[in-house]
Amino acid sequence: MSTAAPLETLIPAAAIATRIRELGSEITAAFRGEPLSVLVLMKGSLYFAADLTRAIALPLRLEFLTVSSYYDGTESSGAVHCSQPLPDVSGRHVLLLDDILDTGLTLREVAGRLAETANAKSIRSAVLLRKAKPQVIAADWVAFDIADQFVVGYGLDHAQECRNLPDICVFPPSR
Ligand code: IMP
Ligand code: MG
Repeated sequence: MSTAAPLETLIPAAAIATRIRELGSEITAAFRGEPLSVLVLMKGSLYFAADLTRAIALPLRLEFLTVSSYYDGTESSGAVHCSQPLPDVSGRHVLLLDDILDTGLTLREVAGRLAETANAKSIRSAVLLRKAKPQVIAADWVAFDIADQFVVGYGLDHAQECRNLPDICVFPPSR
């Protein structure tokens, strides 16, 4: 990491782990007995997906889609870029996982493309974080609500760095 000042922890790793176990139980109850495909939006949802899917006590399929919308700044560019075709989820429930609901444009774009073309049984979504601002789409499960500020860690990046921090931290550091 290139920043000299330490980052302020917003949500510590232990709190993330506790909340993800709760979410896993809720999602397990919601999809019990149904065919489930979890579609992970990369790269930001990497750790969220790894922990949440292991807290879901159901047979499921894991699918990945790499999307980008931030282009190294701390403001949404508004454009959502998706580099691959959608996975085959025909006849299955889809749970979309994203790291953060900021504008909601990413989730709306992917959910919209799925709804148009994928013939899924249902499309629902879980996000790790939701910022306190208007969004163009709602998520079905939210792990944490946060203020409208830029955060890094636990998968979230700034210019592709800081993803591997175990805690969710505020960026940039206050001096
Ligand atoms: P949205 O499409 O505006 O909801 O933003 C979605 C994407 O923007 C997320 O999946 C993140 O990759 C990125 N993003 C939004 N806010 C933050 C943040 O605070 N830190 C790091 N990435 C963010
Ligand atoms: Mg990102």
